[in-house]
Amino acid sequence: MAHARGTPSSWIVQWAGLVSNGVAVLDVAVGRGRHSRFFADRGHPVTAVDRDISAVDPHPAIEVIQADLENGSPWPLGSRIFGAVVVTNYLHRGLMPDLLGALAPGGVLLYETFMVGNERFGRPSNPNHLLKDGELLDLARGRLSVTAYEARLISAPQMAMVQRIAARRPG
Ligand SMILES: C[S@@+](CC[C@H](N)C(=O)[O-])C[C@H]1O[C@@H](n2cnc3c(N)ncnc32)[C@H](O)[C@@H]1O
Repeated sequence: MAHARGTPSSWIVQWAGLVSNGVAVLDVAVGRGRHSRFFADRGHPVTAVDRDISAVDPHPAIEVIQADLENGSPWPLGSRIFGAVVVTNYLHRGLMPDLLGALAPGGVLLYETFMVGNERFGRPSNPNHLLKDGELLDLARGRLSVTAYEARLISAPQMAMVQRIAARRPG
């Protein structure tokens, strides 16, 4: 989704307050690292993962890990757990167990990406990259306590169908 360089998603900003002070944050498929910087500037140590880390500016609180998350390699974080896991504008269904497994007890999942219906507005239009109706709720059911969920059309930074969730692992 096009956005001004460095501008964090309004959903992430809105629900960042759920994340406990100072806990470690995992930002998955970080792109240019807008959310890594956002959380680092709020005082969190951040681990940022992407297959292409060339656009992530160095920051003392951000650990950058280059990894292809879709080529069958082991999950690059091993058994490490985090107080928050952040994913925006990225979907690889095979990673869902790893994302949930990386949440510490009490940890917060903040996930926002495109959903079915986005084809009308452009890319992504491949079903592999579009959440199905209710998919993030289904992911959370029985595992996470959902604070907020939306499935809606947004008009900024561009028209898009998105689904987004803020949910906490019990404990
Ligand atoms: C649309 S960008 C979103 C970036 C960031 N989350 C944001 O919202 O600003 C998608 C990101 O997923 C990363 N990505 C795509 N395929 C990947 C893979 N197989 N392994 C790791 N990262 C991948 C891309 O490099 C890109 O940075």
